Amino acid sequence: MNYRAVKGMNDILPDEIERWHQLEATFRQIVERYRYAETRTPILEHTELFVRSIGETTDVVEKEMFTFERSKESLSMRPEGTAGAARAYVEHKVHAREPVSRWYYAGPMFRAERPQRGRYRQFYQAGCELYGDPGPVCDAEMIDMLVAFFSELGIPEVQVRVNSIGGPDARAAYRTALLEFLRPRAGELSEHARARLEANPLRVLDSKDPRDQAAVADAPSILDLLPPADRQHWDQLRRGLDALGTPYEVQPGLVRGLDYYSRTLFEINASTGELGAQNTLVGGGRYDGMIRSLGGPDVPAIGFAMGLERILLAMSDSTPQASRFCFLAPIGEQAQTAALKLARDLRSAGVTVDLDGRGNSLKSMLRRADATRARICLVLGESELEQGVVQLKDLAAHEQRNVPLAAVVAAVSEALRSASGSEVGA
Ligand code: HAM
Repeated sequence: MNYRAVKGMNDILPDEIERWHQLEATFRQIVERYRYAETRTPILEHTELFVRSIGETTDVVEKEMFTFERSKESLSMRPEGTAGAARAYVEHKVHAREPVSRWYYAGPMFRAERPQRGRYRQFYQAGCELYGDPGPVCDAEMIDMLVAFFSELGIPEVQVRVNSIGGPDARAAYRTALLEFLRPRAGELSEHARARLEANPLRVLDSKDPRDQAAVADAPSILDLLPPADRQHWDQLRRGLDALGTPYEVQPGLVRGLDYYSRTLFEINASTGELGAQNTLVGGGRYDGMIRSLGGPDVPAIGFAMGLERILLAMSDSTPQASRFCFLAPIGEQAQTAALKLARDLRSAGVTVDLDGRGNSLKSMLRRADATRARICLVLGESELEQGVVQLKDLAAHEQRNVPLAAVVAAVSEALRSASGSEVGA
């Protein structure tokens, strides 16, 4: 039997992890600048939490959750992070301690979708949730933060799409208008959309089936049905984005696949690198009713989540940077022993060191230093040992010089420090 990973679930091996670390570090760095603080909630929650918050007639709840029974309880692997975070917010009565809370999270999510490039059954999301502020100033700020994040990552060409789906009243009015529009066209819809039409007509708007997309092309716009308070919220959001100079498009058909949204909705798409059809990097929006529906107080909330695999695909044509570490290449047994101590001294000074103790030729060690993208290579041979020096090669700058053994730690630290300025998220 050859064991293989479960379909749609990927291993991330050490040679790929550096890109993940850089991406996660950049995410943390940016969101912490906006005073978001990390929260970690369990991967398993009671199934009922997801049914209640995400909505019974959404794809995620209807067919994509990994659910199982354990001691007569129905548990599900989290398909997203918003429901668990909201549950924790209510359970720990966070609203009683602070009027506004900004949380972020990063971790694996699980959806039994049909796997393809950019769509997996275990995937990683990083997201933010902001509780206690009804917006729309913070809505504009959040969208602008995401644009700043992508620009920092080197993906400046993103498309930001925004919409408002109003509060419960606007949605009820829109539901009726949409049903009136779609009922006569039911015969043109996909079987799935037809079956769900009466229960959840808004879902037809984000169906990927070309028959559904053609049928809703001239559907009424929810923006035309917004009552005055929702309209004011929407207008002020747009004024905020305009004042910031944040580029965005209004997309009146944007509903996203989760039922908890109200008012502001947004998504961010890109088409760079190796991204295929799954090119939505971020989905988010306001969900003012969720905290109360989970038994908490009437606290408004807004948030987003981004798919980390998709962002890495979008970044796949950016050139990898030389890594900030030092490769130590000793030639001969005496040099190997001396290198052991030198490596320890360098590590004590905070330098990352890869000591090649295999006794290979210099040529093969240099090849290895290049292949691992080391920034510095230290060569320590018999003649260097006799002279009390080490040959320091700066592999990125293509320079080399001899450095007295006693000054090596300082010289390497300095060379790596000056190399670090250009690295993303370092
Ligand atoms: P979502 O739109 O379902 O929203 O997912 C957000 C992002 O997660 C997507 O845009 C995509 O990048 C990534 N993603 C989703 N499913 C997959 C998958 N199967 N494989 C790879 N990546 C995927 C949410 O999850 C909401 N919780 C966002 C939110 C937070 N709204 C308010 N707060």
